[in-house]
Amino acid sequence: MDTRQNNFTAKEINPLNSLDEWEDAVLERYPEPGAIAKEKTEAEFRNYDTPQRDTVREFYRLNHTYQTYDFVQEKRAAYLSFDKKEMPVWEAFDFLNQLVDDSDPDTDLDQFQHLLQTAEAIRADGHPDWMVMVGLMHDMGKVLCLFGEPQWAVVGDTFPVGCAYSDKIVYPEFFKNNPDFNNPKYQSRLGVYTENCGLRNVHMSWGHDEYVYQMMKDHLPEPALYMLRYHSFYAWHREGSYDYLLDDHDREMLKWVKLFNPYDLYSKCPVPPDWKQLRPYYEDLVAKYLPRTLKF
Ligand SMILES: [Fe+2]
Ligand SMILES: [Fe+2]
Repeated sequence: MDTRQNNFTAKEINPLNSLDEWEDAVLERYPEPGAIAKEKTEAEFRNYDTPQRDTVREFYRLNHTYQTYDFVQEKRAAYLSFDKKEMPVWEAFDFLNQLVDDSDPDTDLDQFQHLLQTAEAIRADGHPDWMVMVGLMHDMGKVLCLFGEPQWAVVGDTFPVGCAYSDKIVYPEFFKNNPDFNNPKYQSRLGVYTENCGLRNVHMSWGHDEYVYQMMKDHLPEPALYMLRYHSFYAWHREGSYDYLLDDHDREMLKWVKLFNPYDLYSKCPVPPDWKQLRPYYEDLVAKYLPRTLKF
């Protein structure tokens, strides 16, 4: 019913030169494992003036303006029926790789290399094989871009919709432009939720996390599903906000989300892994956990 997406300009659909610009900005905010963003760091992050930062700022402006409670419901209705495409798992990685970075095709690794490097870093540390699967699959939801979704509806820090915004979310000032900001129903501390209702009852801003979680939810164990579903929820797993929405199960699962995050952020390496050598291991792993085809 919402036709706004059709009214966005090309620049508003793709404010970033590539999806990686968002992840580079997150890496700058959290330069080391376990660190939380300090006031000063955040000020530096905002003030340092480069064209790339302007695109990231514009990206967050769009994200915070248009990710309303209703927008999330529309996207859930559009995508969670998984009736768009079906393909063998290994073809899905080729499909994801159609997302290319035109800004810097020589230096940036493709999406699959990032997945493989994350998975390999997890495997090298001796974690269970289901966590290696998380590394391999965690950004598969970025295919949403290939279905025409704007970048700010695919990547970006995620946050609960339908209740007050935490000031721990990056660029909180842009929420003033969000129609929900002036809706009293959505802007009390709990909004449409109840105290400690559990994250499973909370709708997050729409993006690749929720989409891949829904894709994988019948195939991987619970800690893996938390890693997928909340890996971009930095205001929770790095900043500790929204405690009043959590239940004991969320608090128990938080350690897994935190365990995964450094592998996502800090495993990037310019040298691509040796796929030929790794292939048999990953073919067996995927066959162990996933059906032959994936639905989108
Ligand atoms: Fe991601
Ligand atoms: Fe990632």
